[in-house]
Amino acid sequence: MPKNGASQGGRRAAIISGLRTPFVKAGGDFRHLSAVELGATVVNELVARTGISPSDYDAVVFGQVIPSPLVSLIAREVVLRSQLPRTVQAHTVARACATSIQATTDAADQITLGHADVVLAGGAESLSDAPIFASRPLAQALVDASRARSVVDKAKAFTSLSPRDLAPVPPALKEPTTGLTMGESAERMAQLNGISRAAQDEFAFRSHRRAAEAWRSGRFDSEVMHVAVPPRYERISSKDGIVREDTTLEALGQLRPVFDRKHGTVTAGNSSPLTDGAAALVLASEEKARALGLAPLGYVRAYAFAALDPSDQLLQGPAYAAPRALDRAGLRLQEMDLVDMHEAFAAQVLSNLQAFASRRFAEEKLGRGAPLGEVDPSRLNVNGGSIALGHPFAATGARMILQTLRELARRDGRHALLTVCAAGAIGAALVLDGPGVAA
Ligand SMILES: CC(C)(COP(=O)(O)OP(=O)(O)OC[C@H]1O[C@@H](n2cnc3c(N)ncnc32)[C@H](O)[C@@H]1OP(=O)(O)O)[C@@H](O)C(=O)NCCC(=O)NCCS
Repeated sequence: MPKNGASQGGRRAAIISGLRTPFVKAGGDFRHLSAVELGATVVNELVARTGISPSDYDAVVFGQVIPSPLVSLIAREVVLRSQLPRTVQAHTVARACATSIQATTDAADQITLGHADVVLAGGAESLSDAPIFASRPLAQALVDASRARSVVDKAKAFTSLSPRDLAPVPPALKEPTTGLTMGESAERMAQLNGISRAAQDEFAFRSHRRAAEAWRSGRFDSEVMHVAVPPRYERISSKDGIVREDTTLEALGQLRPVFDRKHGTVTAGNSSPLTDGAAALVLASEEKARALGLAPLGYVRAYAFAALDPSDQLLQGPAYAAPRALDRAGLRLQEMDLVDMHEAFAAQVLSNLQAFASRRFAEEKLGRGAPLGEVDPSRLNVNGGSIALGHPFAATGARMILQTLRELARRDGRHALLTVCAAGAIGAALVLDGPGVAA
């Protein structure tokens, strides 16, 4: 029985089904769709495919990392735009790139506590529809103008503006405490941990190879829905748009570093790209699944979140969260049939794998006598990861859970470990059981 795991209450949270949209580059096929629309699209299709009566759903937990100021509660908005009854309560979660891991663990907690029997969890992101802000002086002038009584006073509000104040301000992918972007933080980790450009490119190459192979062999067919592309709806988006079947190590090696142009190693090829997409899962108590005659994909066994000082290695959260989640699961890394580590950047994955295996890291950072261990490459991100598949921030966790559980079933495996690094120097780790593992 897991210690402090998600199934501690005696009720196990089963993952019944899941679905995602294709993941496409921001500004591509989904540029006319908002995150709410992407979320509602996947939720509607998932509810229809899962076959549980809409009236059986107790709650929806849904997230978005860069929310629109026009939608204050995406989770509830998704319910209201779906076939679910309007009485289904919902809450929105945000934990940066681990958002739909959080949605899933919230759903699992509600089930194990006995507060819900069927919960839908997921996330959606539209980086095509990221909010663009006005500069502070322009925003102030607009407020002043709206309060002014006469046309002359309205016009006066704008007289002190300089042309620079008129420029739109995009959302920053910068860490407020360090002032560094995620890419700059990955670059720093590559340098601190001695992760070479060649190792990063090789990792990215493998991600594309494996994702392309998964598509070719039909492994993704039933986990990715088709979406009619607005505004004309004449075309169908049916596959991920970022996977490159034809990527070569030579092509990757020729790309220029993006975040440190002179001495850097992190490129567009070994980073996850800015992506649009949505993903969702249906969770239910084991009893409810049995009563409805549903065969679970697997179970949430345990999870942990952890954090470190952002001025240390920002994207090293997985190395802190994974040991806690495994302890709570009562399992060792060597017992994992699959490990799925979110690929924000190849440098971040390779740095975390290095920390997993490092005695020094275990002793100095975790106060543990022994390292977690080496991850067998043949069990790691076996169908590709966010570098090749894309990374719609809030959808990635649900995509990983679905992809991993389906692969676990194909291998008749028992356990899988998932990790996600996130802004704020947070790490998430989740231990999943395959359907054959008894409570
Ligand atoms: C890295 C980043 C800046 C690149 O953005 P971009 O310049 O728009 O990227 P592109 O897709 O246009 O790629 C740039 C070039 O590399 C090429 N390229 C990218 N991946 C490639 C691959 N696998 N093989 C060969 N060429 C590749 C593209 O074809 C393009 O070439 P072109 O300029 O000749 O058209 C952007 O993806 C980014 O910010 N990523 C990080 C997102 C992030 O911080 N996420 C948070 C993680 S926690």
